[in-house]
Amino acid sequence: MKKHKGGHPGNHAEHAEHAVTISGLSKSFGTDATRFWALANIDLTVAPRTFTAIMGPSGSGKTTLLNCLLGLDKPDTGAIRIGGTDITALDEAGLAEMRRSHVGVVFQSYNLIPSLSVADNISLPLRLAGRPIDMRRVRELADTVGVGATLDRRPAQLSGGQQQRVAFARALVTDPELIVADEPTGALDTASSDVVLGLLRSIVSDLGQRVLLVTHDPRAAAVADRVLFLRDGRWHGELRGAAEGRIAAALADLGRRS
Ligand SMILES: Nc1ncnc2c1ncn2[C@@H]1O[C@H](COP(=O)(O)OP(=O)(O)OP(=O)(O)O)[C@@H](O)[C@H]1O
Ligand SMILES: [Mg+2]
Repeated sequence: MKKHKGGHPGNHAEHAEHAVTISGLSKSFGTDATRFWALANIDLTVAPRTFTAIMGPSGSGKTTLLNCLLGLDKPDTGAIRIGGTDITALDEAGLAEMRRSHVGVVFQSYNLIPSLSVADNISLPLRLAGRPIDMRRVRELADTVGVGATLDRRPAQLSGGQQQRVAFARALVTDPELIVADEPTGALDTASSDVVLGLLRSIVSDLGQRVLLVTHDPRAAAVADRVLFLRDGRWHGELRGAAEGRIAAALADLGRRS
């Protein structure tokens, strides 16, 4: 898989030509007698500089889709191309490298390392990947997400919101092809959700990243460029540039249809 050489956080020319694409993706669980198809022949293209939200009822396959993208679940069929490589063909070492360097993940919890400074937490993925650490880039990223003045502190000396910003900078430091977020606002109050959603939006609009967001919250999905609806492991329509009310209505409709 191609490596990126750090550089300016806005400079994505190197991988701008590669869309992230999923084609014919199916994933089942269980044995032959009890086989259950969590994903059934899914296609998806995530273009550069786009923010895509995925919504659907509980059990519709959203997390399974993200797990396949992260190489944590092995699909039954289909291809997943990230950075020009079909990750379904990678072995464990290749998948580990892909997760370290090519996909950034934003969790509900921040998972910062308490004994490391903010600067060292942000640069940790580079260190783990054995890549050179460009402190100017770390500072730029920290500034972009609003924690530029806290680089020498430990996580415990930051507010929850500041810790979350550090986690975002850490997800971005390897200049990944894709940022994935599974319910990042699920446990947050409105004000904290707004911070996370604003960060996701600016990652796309200002840094030129691609974001794939899984959410139950129409308010969160309304921040995306498009919303894709999943049910029973299949797509059931999409909305572009829709407001919260329209997204909520489409989601309710999806739950009613059987
Ligand atoms: N490891 C597994 N073994 C068996 N079945 C599984 C496994 N993981 C997921 N499933 C099933 O696959 C389906 C899709 O699950 P998934 O977690 O992707 O749903 P989801 O859309 O993320 O739901 P939620 O909104 O509740 O998080 C569910 O029916 C689930 O029970
Ligand atoms: Mg889920």
